[in-house]
Amino acid sequence: MCFYCHIFLSYPIMGFLVDAADQVVLNLQDEVQQTWKPGDNIVVASTDYSMHQAEEFTLLPCPRCTSRQVRIQGKPRYNHVGEILDGVDMRAEVALLSRNILVYGEMENSCYGDNLCQFFNHDTYGGHIKIFRNFSSVHLSHVELKNMGQQREMGSYPLHFHMCGDVDQRGGYREPTYVDGLSIHHSFSRCLTIHATNGLLVKNTIGYDTLGHCFFLEDGIEQRNTFYHNLGLLTQPGTLLPTDRNETLCTSIRDKVYKGYTPSPSTECKAVSTFWIANPNNNLISNVAAGSQDAGIWFVFHSSSTGDSHGLVPETKAELTPLGIFYNNRVHSNFKVFLVFLVLLTLFFNTDLQICLFLLLCFIKKRENPSL
Ligand SMILES: *[C@@H]1O[C@H](CO)[C@@H](O)[C@H](O)[C@H]1NC(C)=O
Ligand SMILES: *[C@@H]1O[C@H](CO)[C@@H](O)[C@H](O)[C@H]1NC(C)=O
Repeated sequence: MCFYCHIFLSYPIMGFLVDAADQVVLNLQDEVQQTWKPGDNIVVASTDYSMHQAEEFTLLPCPRCTSRQVRIQGKPRYNHVGEILDGVDMRAEVALLSRNILVYGEMENSCYGDNLCQFFNHDTYGGHIKIFRNFSSVHLSHVELKNMGQQREMGSYPLHFHMCGDVDQRGGYREPTYVDGLSIHHSFSRCLTIHATNGLLVKNTIGYDTLGHCFFLEDGIEQRNTFYHNLGLLTQPGTLLPTDRNETLCTSIRDKVYKGYTPSPSTECKAVSTFWIANPNNNLISNVAAGSQDAGIWFVFHSSSTGDSHGLVPETKAELTPLGIFYNNRVHSNFKVFLVFLVLLTLFFNTDLQICLFLLLCFIKKRENPSL
């Protein structure tokens, strides 16, 4: 993955839209020649307000490229800024999507059966990987997860650490459990879910094009997890939780909503976030949230744990817990807000998940400049 990459066109240098297809060369900040090969796919993040300006390209052979350049097939449809403007680093993130090891869901050509076809015109029933507690070791490295996750089935995500407890030294694991260098893309339910699991290390991982919160902490008791140098983009609305839902989904789906309660789209839905951090005691270092329908990074501090954890574990008092490390994160191209800190004061329970968002402690509106 290459963050903060310049984008540069070989010729003609007339903005970014060139007539000559297959002649576009990207100038990157990092050396990629050893690992990025012709035929591989990359994604270039939006540098505008709309997350939908993220674009995928296939790499072409380029004998004349330097180790920091790649040639792409076709030509970009949008401008992607490749400069530091007025001291603000506006350069688009560029990420490799291809990996040698590919795990993918087998998809149908269209939506079918009871897969929420009233909302989605494509198949949203992909594969999923679920990790349960008491494993002896889990270390996933440089795996591509494509067409994974299921919109219909709660708990079926591209990668799901399901109630694993402490997966670091505290749980008796010699080295922390980690995922490193994963490429999770074209998913149908989240990217990576950490549920009642503590001490997981998630690094160098891409979550691109998914439905619902992408990097997701579930119940509010998840602690000591570290997100380091991950990139999430094109985080689209999903159906599972009210916070995942857009206006249409909010008013038409009543699942997970307190009985008889009518959610208000503007305050109880429309919160889909690339990083959904449900407990302050987690570390976010050098991550990029580069495009979500609603928010880039959302800290939500439950006053009481939710879901399966409710009543089963000692309360962690999230709203009184100090924040972990929060350093060098970048957020841009999010439609609504870039960073939110929120305390859930009132919780409504319906078997396992809560719905309501109330007290806004600090609601930071998007600034004029989308990269701030
Ligand atoms: C909300 O998302 C669904 C599913 O993608 C879509 O069908 C619907 O048109 C969206 N509604 C709005 C208001 O964007
Ligand atoms: C995990 O191990 C503990 C201790 O040996 C045991 O009590 C528990 O039932 C196990 N859990 C699962 C899900 O296997």
